[in-house]
Amino acid sequence: METIDAAELAEIGLRFEVDGEIATITLDRPDKRNAQTFATWRALARIGENLPGQVRIVVVEGEGPSFSAGIDLRMFTPEGVPGQGSFASNLSRDDESMEQAVATAQQGFLWLRRPDIVSIAAVQGHAIGAGFQLALACDLRVLADDAKFCMKEPALGLVPDLTGTKPLVDLVGLPRAIEMCLTARTVEAKEALELRLGELVVPRGELRQAVRDLAAALLSTDRGAATATKRLLQGAQGRSLEEQAAAERREQVQRMKALFARG
Ligand code: ACO
Repeated sequence: METIDAAELAEIGLRFEVDGEIATITLDRPDKRNAQTFATWRALARIGENLPGQVRIVVVEGEGPSFSAGIDLRMFTPEGVPGQGSFASNLSRDDESMEQAVATAQQGFLWLRRPDIVSIAAVQGHAIGAGFQLALACDLRVLADDAKFCMKEPALGLVPDLTGTKPLVDLVGLPRAIEMCLTARTVEAKEALELRLGELVVPRGELRQAVRDLAAALLSTDRGAATATKRLLQGAQGRSLEEQAAAERREQVQRMKALFARG
């Protein structure tokens, strides 16, 4: 996959900066509340594909008052987004090709779970629909005290399809996920923290620093150990205790070899 330059990203409404082991992806269309398009998701996928090898932390943040107001509502109009069409204009395609388009969009989200990185969403203001799902695609969420989550898709006749349903259920449980999605209600920061949708809530002005502090703490452990531990933790829910114990043994043997081979 080809790399993507800053000018191209700016046109899409994104910024990407790397500072040592920390990469920052900024949704940068504040005048439109960081609304997302297919181009946003394709660009996110390309950033993931081309992530510099030294990066261990990926911060996803939004410029301006909102993290992201979700999908660009022009997609619902007959004219659509220039160069990207609309929902209506894509209906002539067969089901498989329409599903393929969603799969391509999902690629922009899925890589944020890679075991060799830790992704952190810094959420202020509204995180609606695709915005909520982008925050859910990250491993961790730091919330400003004005953060507001809303899974708006069902209210628009759609389902959340940008990989958000599984992490939502994993975090808040099935009954609460059903209640939140089917009412499309807004969950504010205090409740979001109680529902485990965020690791911490900080005053709005302290969001950047809180994310920086968390990133620094995460970088304090050995990369190999961090990657193996994340992989182990990610697999835990899908395994029995015995299977998980076996997975721990396998990972630990590799860790011991890596540690002691170093001398
Ligand atoms: N798509 C395109 N433009 C948007 C979107 C969006 N999702 N959200 C906001 N904007 C634009 C507005 O049209 C407005 O543009 P204008 O200045 O040219 O008129 C500008 O951003 C600012 O929006 P306001 O509504 O004035 O900002 P405010 O801070 O008062 O409200 C809020 C923010 C609550 C996010 C509101 O804009 C909103 O409800 N947006 C729509 C949210 C939505 O339904 N998203 C789809 C979810 S479903 C999914 O993502 C699949």
